[in-house]
Amino acid sequence: MANLNQNNEREQWGSKLGFILAASGSAVGLGNLVKFPAVAGKNGGGAFVLVYFIILFLVGFTLMLAEIVLGRHTKLNAIGAYRKIRKNWAWVGGLGVLAGFMILSYYSVIGGWVINYLLKSLTGALKTSDAEVINQMFGSLVTGTVEPIVYHGIFMLATMIIVIGGIGGGIEKSSKILMPGLFIMIILIALRSMTLPGGVEGIKYLLVPDFSKLSIGVVLDALGQVFFSLSLGMGCMITYGSYLGEDTNIPQSATIIPLIDTGVALLAGLAVLPAVFAYNLDPNAGMGIIFKAFPAIFAQLPFGNFFSFIFFLLVLFAALSSSISLLEVCVSYVVDEWKMNRKAAVTLLGLIIFVIGSIASLSYGPWGHIKFVAGLNFFDSLDFISANYLLPLGGLLLCIFVGWVWGTDNAIKEATNGGKLTFSLASLWVILIKYVGPVAITIVFIRSLI
Ligand code: PHE
Repeated sequence: MANLNQNNEREQWGSKLGFILAASGSAVGLGNLVKFPAVAGKNGGGAFVLVYFIILFLVGFTLMLAEIVLGRHTKLNAIGAYRKIRKNWAWVGGLGVLAGFMILSYYSVIGGWVINYLLKSLTGALKTSDAEVINQMFGSLVTGTVEPIVYHGIFMLATMIIVIGGIGGGIEKSSKILMPGLFIMIILIALRSMTLPGGVEGIKYLLVPDFSKLSIGVVLDALGQVFFSLSLGMGCMITYGSYLGEDTNIPQSATIIPLIDTGVALLAGLAVLPAVFAYNLDPNAGMGIIFKAFPAIFAQLPFGNFFSFIFFLLVLFAALSSSISLLEVCVSYVVDEWKMNRKAAVTLLGLIIFVIGSIASLSYGPWGHIKFVAGLNFFDSLDFISANYLLPLGGLLLCIFVGWVWGTDNAIKEATNGGKLTFSLASLWVILIKYVGPVAITIVFIRSLI
């Protein structure tokens, strides 16, 4: 597909479904499959899920709509979109592009680990239930020097190839394969996991709230998780929205995408936690759940290799459909503003991200002693700063921008295609974006700083 950005015509999604699949592909990722079960596990399961839902309703849908509307209205990348409406707000978009850069740098390293495990499940190397062997296998991969960088490079290359294909021919086309595949595989894995003897405990853990577990820390984690999981606060949905045609029903899309994302997160919880409980493993093991607990569980099942292969393929599909959106945020900026062609932009950015990601990878190995923020290594610092601070901050500024600077009347006009569509919850949305969103994000922020 030709890159039309340099002429006056901007590329567009081929169909409404294509946009929904690509945007939910961005949302559904490691955040759902790896982070959600881990954060829910750490924060007491049901109590976290409840808070997550509240924040999703108050902030998630609200910001999803705001970003898509801003993108379609301006037809520009994250920085250009802010600049077009108010020149001195361009830096907010800049924060977003920076966040995308940082997230992709470590995201792609994890993507590399996933490819490695996918191959391991093919060769049968995962078929062991010896905890020592399993721990050592993961440890020696992530602390390695060359091996994890090679896999990170392969993952990054795959991401770059898709993004070079452009909006319709690359991102949309791949999402049409990745997303349906992902749905089928996650349902298969969730069914397998829930029917394990003792699995019911995991379902209860996820769905029955224990209110004694509630704390400000839980709320902060839930807020960060909503932003990360929905790809909000960094202009990703601005960018994807900028490729939309005039006929899309944005309020409807902004409802469907978060629902798909949350559905997949819950399914991931149902795929992971029952298995963890059935085998008396620790629900609080973070990333270890995916790379250590799962192989151990599958090893004990009939067709274990088959299920681990499907599982890691599922995680890979989810990770790829998100990494392409992270790269596209940066590429779209360079193509629009520096007038570079898509292929050159992807190559340049991909190489830089590969280098930063390699440093992140080494920070789990030989460079582990170098600490950055809050006593964390480089890898964890990238995650901590981007997910906990840059995304919620970007979200807060977006609320102020759309609610007060650009104005909700203008936004609603765009959302309803100039009054042609009904947006029945418009007045509720106005209250959420002007008051509830900014206040809620600020409170959580301030509380977390003290
Ligand atoms: N939403 C993605 C996930 O859950 C991560 C992501 C964050 C993608 C921000 C794009 C922008 O894995």
